[in-house]
Amino acid sequence: MRARIASGAGPWRTRRAWENGAARGAGLTDVPLRPLKLLWRRTIDKTQLVKVRLPVRRLPREFEGMVACQLSDFHVDRDEDLERLEKAVDAVNRQKPELVFLTGDYFSRPEAMRRYLEPVGTLLRRLEPQLAWFAVAGNHDHWCCFDPISERLRRSGGAVLVNEHRRVHRRAAALVVVGIDDLWSRRAEPARAFRGVRRTDCTVVLAHNPDTALYLRHLSPGVMLSGHTHGGVVRLPFYGSVFNSFLRLGRRFQAGLNRYSDFYIYTNRGLGTFAVRIRINCRPEVSRFTLERFDPIQQAATLEEAVLADR
Ligand SMILES: [Fe+2]
Repeated sequence: MRARIASGAGPWRTRRAWENGAARGAGLTDVPLRPLKLLWRRTIDKTQLVKVRLPVRRLPREFEGMVACQLSDFHVDRDEDLERLEKAVDAVNRQKPELVFLTGDYFSRPEAMRRYLEPVGTLLRRLEPQLAWFAVAGNHDHWCCFDPISERLRRSGGAVLVNEHRRVHRRAAALVVVGIDDLWSRRAEPARAFRGVRRTDCTVVLAHNPDTALYLRHLSPGVMLSGHTHGGVVRLPFYGSVFNSFLRLGRRFQAGLNRYSDFYIYTNRGLGTFAVRIRINCRPEVSRFTLERFDPIQQAATLEEAVLADR
């Protein structure tokens, strides 16, 4: 039986209690603002399970069809963020993944980290991947102080990768999980993380910031998983995010599956919010991947054949 998670340094009120309290404080229990508030809460709380066929270069046959999940950008700063994370962990476990990947920004601020580190660690202890779960740091984690976060994640059973890699075996084959430290904190060292990785190895690279791809393209990654962007926060149909990205790789990499050079990057929209507590057409995300083989050379040849046949 699973233990109820409670905030270590303070009471963890239920969302209903929070809503009632906040609503009373703001006078929102009165119509007509309450429906608006419920709608707003739905946009930031209703997590979406996104199923993706993930193209991975040099994927060994033994790993084809493997299920893996990704969570990112929890930004646990309030009780309701913890409750959202709890539901996301349960959603991940329901997928029965073999691997789980966490791509950073677990807290936004040091005081929130100190308050919620223990309950977040207890929640993550519930993750039940068949093989292992891995985590990397985000920019906020370094701004909070990553040492206690890293220690707590390890105590919860995770492998925290700081510019290093681990091999995961399935029958006779291996998959190499490479964790790159955060780019904005100037701690990313792709060359160090890839030291000892063979050119023929299949790699799943975890890097909080999708711009990290600019600095590891030459290392021939199999696929890269990122977060950081929160999906662009406010997305319009047929247009994308209304916010201009600060990232060099631009709007293309703010959310979902995108090809860069000869590999794919998946950008998870994250679970939490930072600064502005809003999401429009950009729900919190749990990603569920089914790994499949991707051969850029074969794909290029197929495209070339199609062009020739067209002439
Ligand atoms: Fe971030």
